[in-house]
Amino acid sequence: MTLDKVELSQDNLAQIAAAAELLDTGGVVAFPTETVYGLGADATNAVAVQKIYDIKQRPENHPLIMHISDIAHLKFWAVEIPESAMLLAERFWPGPLTLILKRSPNVSDNVTGGQETVGIRIPAHPVALALLQMIGPQKAIAAPSANLYGKISPTSAAHVHTALNDKVDMILDGGNCEVGLESTIIAFDHEDVSILRPGGIAVPTIEETLNKPVVQINNEMSAIRVSGALPAHYAPTTPLQLYQTSELLQAAHQRASQNLHTIVITWSKVDTSKLIHPNIVHVCMPDDPVNYAKRLYATLHQYDQDAYDAILVETPPAQPAWLAISDRLQRASQSHK
Ligand code: TXA
Ligand code: MG
Repeated sequence: MTLDKVELSQDNLAQIAAAAELLDTGGVVAFPTETVYGLGADATNAVAVQKIYDIKQRPENHPLIMHISDIAHLKFWAVEIPESAMLLAERFWPGPLTLILKRSPNVSDNVTGGQETVGIRIPAHPVALALLQMIGPQKAIAAPSANLYGKISPTSAAHVHTALNDKVDMILDGGNCEVGLESTIIAFDHEDVSILRPGGIAVPTIEETLNKPVVQINNEMSAIRVSGALPAHYAPTTPLQLYQTSELLQAAHQRASQNLHTIVITWSKVDTSKLIHPNIVHVCMPDDPVNYAKRLYATLHQYDQDAYDAILVETPPAQPAWLAISDRLQRASQSHK
């Protein structure tokens, strides 16, 4: 996707140019991607990158993803790129895929948290791509998700506004995020491929592309490198609990009868008449993983703002296509255990 193929109005372009200018002078800009909104700074400016850690209150050994606009720039930032990585980049970029590669000397230390590897992706959002093209080929945007550390990622400009408005120099509005969950993060050990975080691209699709199985790294192995892999993460303030379909209605009623205000999030065809109760708000989500993912964070943001006592969530199907959703819900439920 190049800038001239993307529909951006003159207004959009003026806003994006202002954001590029801010990045150039060491500012911090929240910008839309197809996954979630990012909190961006010039990756080559150590002072600007430090601001991201301060704003997010994120530990400094948790590295940031570098966003670039063109696969041709990859070799400027990474070295010894495995063939599998190139294959995945060519197939899925721009898109919700982050590759962990050996860093080149052009990558600054505070982006990688001192590690020898760097996470890189090309986002598939016209505003993000335009912004990246405006800052030029020798620069990149270092960006985590634009939320406070451990909280739910933003999928709209309004979510960023609520959490970070007074802390950032600008919020670029690019509408609601198309994917709604973070990118899939993939690491390489020569030609061995492992998934550090399930995300926007499903594992079976990756295995199909590579024509070989990939390894899924468990929490303990990856906790230090991937903050999103810590057991408690992506959490709303309201306690979130997962229930199997068979136990959900009873759990909801038990709470409601104790006068607890309860959100119930389902995906299957549960008998909705059983959820009619003054203390229950029933949210019926799509029963396919793509549309469910698109709405998950927005739904959690929406109900986390109000004074509910708990969010009860129907456990998603145990199928590979639902893996990233199950992963985020598991982690969201952990901080209240
Ligand atoms: O979809 C996404 O990936 C979004 C958008 C904004 O691009 N970004 C995002 O960033 O989710 P963040 O920082 O919230 O999560 C990125 C994860 C972190 O858990 C970080 O530790 C991990 O990627 N990461 C970054 N560089 C890494 C590296 N060199 N090795 C291992 N993990 C890395
Ligand atoms: Mg994050």
